[in-house]
Amino acid sequence: MARTGTADLVIVANRLPVDRTTNPDGSRGWRRSPGGLVSALEPVMRAGDGAWIGWPGVAGHDDLEPFVEDGMQLVPVGLSAEEVEEFYEGFSNSTLWPLYHDVVAKPEFHREWFDSYVKVNERFAAAAAEVASENATVWVQDYQLQLVPRMLRDLRPDLRIGFYLHIPFPPSELFQQLPWRRQVLEGLLGADLVGFQLPAAAQNFIRLVRQRVGHKTHRDTVYLPDGRTVKAAAFPISIDTAGFEELARSESVERRARAIREALGNPAKIFLGIDRLDYTKGIYARLRAFSELIADGHFGVEDAVFVQVATPSRERVEQYRILRDEIDRLVGRINGDLGRIGRPAISYLHSSYPREEMAALYRAADVMVVTPYRDGMNLVAKEYVACRFDNDGALVLSEFAGAAEELRQAWLVNPYDINGMKQALLAAYEADPKDLNRRMKAMRRTVREKDVAFWADHFLEELSATRPEHGKPLRP
Ligand code: F6P
Repeated sequence: MARTGTADLVIVANRLPVDRTTNPDGSRGWRRSPGGLVSALEPVMRAGDGAWIGWPGVAGHDDLEPFVEDGMQLVPVGLSAEEVEEFYEGFSNSTLWPLYHDVVAKPEFHREWFDSYVKVNERFAAAAAEVASENATVWVQDYQLQLVPRMLRDLRPDLRIGFYLHIPFPPSELFQQLPWRRQVLEGLLGADLVGFQLPAAAQNFIRLVRQRVGHKTHRDTVYLPDGRTVKAAAFPISIDTAGFEELARSESVERRARAIREALGNPAKIFLGIDRLDYTKGIYARLRAFSELIADGHFGVEDAVFVQVATPSRERVEQYRILRDEIDRLVGRINGDLGRIGRPAISYLHSSYPREEMAALYRAADVMVVTPYRDGMNLVAKEYVACRFDNDGALVLSEFAGAAEELRQAWLVNPYDINGMKQALLAAYEADPKDLNRRMKAMRRTVREKDVAFWADHFLEELSATRPEHGKPLRP
């Protein structure tokens, strides 16, 4: 067994929960990133001497030592420029990402990318093995690190290991295209508990393990030849609901929401899309649907505007560059054809914003439009609901987002069906306040009851139940 460390709970994720910043005097520092995962895990990490292993987000930095920030022990794993290209942009985001999202874009299969994926996964596993205390709990996150559970179990059989996939797990016909499908399944089987967003994904995984690896399975459990069992189940992720609502209720956010509406020329209705600029999000089709409603005469640019925020993402990956050009062209064409002076049909922002600005946009928007072709969950849909404390506002949501399984009272749409989307956008635009109120109330109940803390607690409780003989409690 490798040398053991002191952390009782170790989070292993592709990214650290902090971003690198530059201070006014030129020195470098760290700032906590706004993600919900950090806030959900913070209490349990503090209570149980936690550590977080991740990449600092820029190439190089292989000399960074573990450090403490905001009371959390952080362990950086550096990636060389070549590894960023092959492991992160290559295998993670040009092979697995499109393959796991219904092949919305064509996945590329390159053997040297997989070699890099193995090497980087090994480095993460070694870092986890070093910081975890004896019998500690290690929770590995997401598609970039699917080989880590197996590698870590080989290094440290004493550990209790959980894995959670934040993105969809593909249907078996698609997964089987992957030349390294067996290695990925074996990698995941190193965990005691494998978590997915939706029950169908967990069932797909169990079926694939039975068919491809040949292990015995019964319901949600895999029986390994060495006597170990692996459980697969769904744990739909959520947001810091109370935190978002508090922000939305603040005077400054309310003021900013009014200023946004005014800056847009006080239209009767504001439509809003907020997404990473990613081809899975269905931005192109939704903007077309909206513009056709104007062209068809259902409303004019004085009545409604579509604010589309597209956060820059994975900008060196070719498919993302192509998408950016396509959206730029489409927005230009729509505004050129339909806009009036000072009244564009689409207000397009290629930028990322802090949580406060997002909350103000959610408060300003009458119709939130979330129409991915495929999405593990989609937290934007839940954030919008959390911010609508007046029980108003409409949500148009793709039936192919994980969130659609919980937010049934949204206007659910098939993002491939432009006419269907037009109907839903129009219905949301014309909905009467009573209908909006009824729908929003029900959706708000869901996101209040099941927030991100519920998600983390539920996963960690199930994980501690997987090896009762193990006996190390996570909380003191
Ligand atoms: O949805 C999957 C995910 O990896 C998220 O965890 C993350 O916030 C997002 O995609 C952005 O990805 P990247 O780390 O590649 O910028």
